[in-house]
Amino acid sequence: MEKLLVHGGRSLRGSVRVQGSKNTCLPVMAASLLNAGISVLENCPDIADVAVMQEILTYLGCVVNREGSTLIIDSRDACPRKIDDTMSCRLRASSVLMGPMLSRFGSVTAAKPGGCDIGARPVDIHLEAFKRMGASWSIGDSCIEVSAVHLHEGDIYLKFPSVGATENAVMAAVLTPGTTVIENAAREPEIEHLCRYLKLSGAKISGEGTNKITVEGVESLSDVVYTVPPDRIVMGTYMAAAAVTRGDIELIGCCASDACGFFDVYTGMGMKYKNTAGGIRVWQTDRPRNLNCIKTGVYPEFPTDMQSVTLSVAAVGEGCTLFEENIFENRYKIVKPLNDMGADISVDGKKAVVRGVDKLHGCALKGTDLRGAAALFVAALGAEGDSGISNPFYIYRGYEQLITNYRELGAEIEEI
Ligand code: EPZ
Repeated sequence: MEKLLVHGGRSLRGSVRVQGSKNTCLPVMAASLLNAGISVLENCPDIADVAVMQEILTYLGCVVNREGSTLIIDSRDACPRKIDDTMSCRLRASSVLMGPMLSRFGSVTAAKPGGCDIGARPVDIHLEAFKRMGASWSIGDSCIEVSAVHLHEGDIYLKFPSVGATENAVMAAVLTPGTTVIENAAREPEIEHLCRYLKLSGAKISGEGTNKITVEGVESLSDVVYTVPPDRIVMGTYMAAAAVTRGDIELIGCCASDACGFFDVYTGMGMKYKNTAGGIRVWQTDRPRNLNCIKTGVYPEFPTDMQSVTLSVAAVGEGCTLFEENIFENRYKIVKPLNDMGADISVDGKKAVVRGVDKLHGCALKGTDLRGAAALFVAALGAEGDSGISNPFYIYRGYEQLITNYRELGAEIEEI
């Protein structure tokens, strides 16, 4: 079994370019089905999840070529096929194929999506949105079938501002005649980035980034060239690594506002920053000061995807922090391995109390989901001694060139 061996305690220093956003690239790749033409996507991260989405699009008849960090997708000959569960169980984000496929083909049969084991991850809100546009659906033992003879305009209210459901509703609406309004829409930056791609292709959308999005259906969408923005969670993971190793890192290609919702938490814990010509420099000289409380929430609150790596920082911070995970019901699996490293964290439902200790010590660790595995990697970087992380493929799902990038910052890592 592949394992990452991390020799902890090295202070990370240097400059690193922050990769393109996984959670923008994946829905944009799905949306490329809509223009039945060419989408040139620049700055696509070279990560496992993007590779799986590329496999699925190819399976659906698209021609997808990668030239460096650019993906060229030709969706002219795409055809309706069941999204095979050997693929969709490897990629939760395959659920965002439902909207484009329903719009283009009038139906979609998808295996129930899989992904991280951070929670049940149902798609009821997605299906309810499709129903408001005239679709009907049935859920079998292993798959979901959604169909609509003709999608029609609809007024949609999402019972929870689900990111994926908002993306699916927008993608189902851009080619649907009339006006579709999505209320209680997600406001995450990834929604705005997806809408920017669609508007570059000719879609008529307004209100993205607010909780009310209006889509005027158009006849067709055109070929498009689009650049994927930086990945805010990868940026935040570097910040967490700098915090636990007292590091000094220039994050190239991003700025403080890319870290909206968590930048103030890190500066509150003592991180310093200065804008540079190519990005932003962040550094931590003293031991992180733990904040009283960190609650995850929908944008612009503290993002759930930053909870695990920040837990690793608070584990060695000064003082005590109460975490509250309000988005996913099972996102504290890393508490046990962190406590095995010497942390003092107790969990009670969606709350976790972290009492900072001076140092963690390295030990054998096992990743169980993407951001959890990344958090164990961060903890190992700051720990005394060596840590062996099994299941590193979880990290490779979302972090491009992990070993190369962190080695260039001074981390001592071996892949065994
Ligand atoms: C997206 O997942 C991201 N994934 C997640 O990042 C991120 O954590 C999440 O948004 C929240 O910001 C991608 O963009 C590919 P949701 P998504 O629908 O769309 C419940 C990562 O690490 N819900 O906003 O699946 C759901 O169970 C990943 O990069 C329903 O109940 O998130 C969860 O508790 C992890 N019914 C909450 O809403 C539904 O129909 C938020 O889910 C849909 C969601």
